[in-house]
Amino acid sequence: MNPVYVALDTTDLDYALQLAERVRPSIGGLKLGLEFFTARGAEGVRAFTDRGLPIFLDLKFHDIPNTVAGACRAAAQLGVSITNIHAQGGAAMMRAARDAVKGVNPATRLIAVTMLTSLGDEDLPGLGLMPPVSDQVLRLASLAQQCGLDGVVCSAHEIEPLRRELGPDFLLVVPGIRPAGAALGDQRRVMGPKEAMDAGASVLVIGRPITGAADPAQAARDIAQSLGISAN
Ligand code: C5P
Repeated sequence: MNPVYVALDTTDLDYALQLAERVRPSIGGLKLGLEFFTARGAEGVRAFTDRGLPIFLDLKFHDIPNTVAGACRAAAQLGVSITNIHAQGGAAMMRAARDAVKGVNPATRLIAVTMLTSLGDEDLPGLGLMPPVSDQVLRLASLAQQCGLDGVVCSAHEIEPLRRELGPDFLLVVPGIRPAGAALGDQRRVMGPKEAMDAGASVLVIGRPITGAADPAQAARDIAQSLGISAN
């Protein structure tokens, strides 16, 4: 299975569909997030699922269990392959979300966000949490696993400890991937696609190195090739 999901951070449906078709032969799926969903809604997501494109719907739900379960049920009904919630919503919320998703579609993977990577150790005391961030990530990822979730979103440098702690089957979905020579943009701690897979990643979320390339189809092909995957 091709592990590369291309992040389409846009509100423009036509642009997103055109780009998706160009990169399609060399990718595993597409990630649509809050920017796209707030502008285009469920109909925008269906434009992709109707074309048979696997979608990671990255909306990071965080609310009371009943509300999150309802939102997760609606996401699973859209036929997305991956969706997500905040682990900080707690165990009851995660279990309710898992039951809702699996009740609609057992194949939809439900994963958790642990700590936003925009938070550093210095932010934690203000939130009533004890640093370091890495301990919080490990604790929340273990809780997500105990609640029956399929995996977590994590940064590249968290892959190895999480893989060690959580075993071979837990999904580790990793953004912040940069092939050699690609611009960092606003990402700070990055890793190459091959290095991330070798460290134990399950899914790579890659945006601008593909979407911002002069030839996105070629950029996607090059990444697939670096992973030893031939185009469809
Ligand atoms: O363009 P780039 O490859 O940096 O895109 C990465 C994608 O992953 C974006 O959609 C970004 O919002 C998302 N993401 C991230 N870091 C996180 C969580 C999500 O870059 N910790």
